[in-house]
Amino acid sequence: MILITQDLMASDEGVARAAAILRAGGLVAMPTETVYGLAGDARNGTAVAQIFAAKARPTFNPLIAHVTGLEMAETLAVFDDRARAVAAALWPGALTLVLPLRSDAGLSPLVTAGLSTVAIRCPAHPVAQALLRAFGGPLAAPSANPSGRVSPTRADHVRAGLTGRIDAVLDGGPCTVGVESTILGLDGAPTLLRPGGVPLEALEAMLGPICMGGDAHKPNAPGQLASHYAPEAGVRLAVTAPQADEVWVGFGPGCKGAALSLSPGGDLIEAAAALFQTLRDADALAGPGGRIAFAPVPESGLGRAINDRLRRAAAPRN
Ligand code: TXA
Ligand code: MG
Repeated sequence: MILITQDLMASDEGVARAAAILRAGGLVAMPTETVYGLAGDARNGTAVAQIFAAKARPTFNPLIAHVTGLEMAETLAVFDDRARAVAAALWPGALTLVLPLRSDAGLSPLVTAGLSTVAIRCPAHPVAQALLRAFGGPLAAPSANPSGRVSPTRADHVRAGLTGRIDAVLDGGPCTVGVESTILGLDGAPTLLRPGGVPLEALEAMLGPICMGGDAHKPNAPGQLASHYAPEAGVRLAVTAPQADEVWVGFGPGCKGAALSLSPGGDLIEAAAALFQTLRDADALAGPGGRIAFAPVPESGLGRAINDRLRRAAAPRN
């Protein structure tokens, strides 16, 4: 079915219309500080099924439930003191917690892909918060891109990928963090399931050592499939001497002759915010069958999330 995708401004009226669409079981792309999310009513199985259909996402890959705050989160998952302390310190923000699902959570089983845990995030973006409050319940929201492709950090990216497949795009401007949330498993020993917008170092400072989890090759251990964030062009990593036919994307001051740069000054926060737009720009420059080469990015702070996304962009395609 082809839908007419409405463009909504992030005004009170735009948010009210978006909430009405969600209450009617429709899908709205909403801005968050990490990436745009494709939101639907997490308690409505038909709406959640339509999220999977719009993205062509495998249904064994569960979704994140977005909430207004800890109070709503505690209706969905079992929080212990440790989870409460982490949420109090880092919510709202770019952190998703995986916790035991409450039996009375009321979520569509499609959200959790039938698992006994649920992923929950309280986003900091004021428009996401306004929409969650206007809607008044949990919103399931994966990144608003066709499955496997580059995540959207601007409303235009959403339109390019999903026009005709969703009901509306709520335009909240460019995302400031630029990479998806960090996913922390807290249903046992603290486990990093996905590096993201909250650096691992910040979690270690609160929780001590954190296990490294997430197995990209075992899709229903969720996490992600190895090939993801894939542009059209081929991608090569940690390149200090690009080949003549490659579009070289620099990082830091040493990359003379690079066509593009994630951050000329070598700032990881700036690089994360620029990552997905730069991947799109490089893809356009490379052209059909072209190749992109990324300069090395340090594996610390937000560099961990940037390198994770770049490794998946470079992974062999299915
Ligand atoms: O920043 C973000 O997290 C964005 C914005 C929109 O909030 N959302 C996002 O959603 O990145 P998505 O669907 O692209 O990624 C969600 C990840 C998937 O890798 C999924 O496997 C994992 O969360 N996940 C969901 N539920 C899980 C669970 N119960 N256990 C382990 N991983 C889970
Ligand atoms: Mg995604």
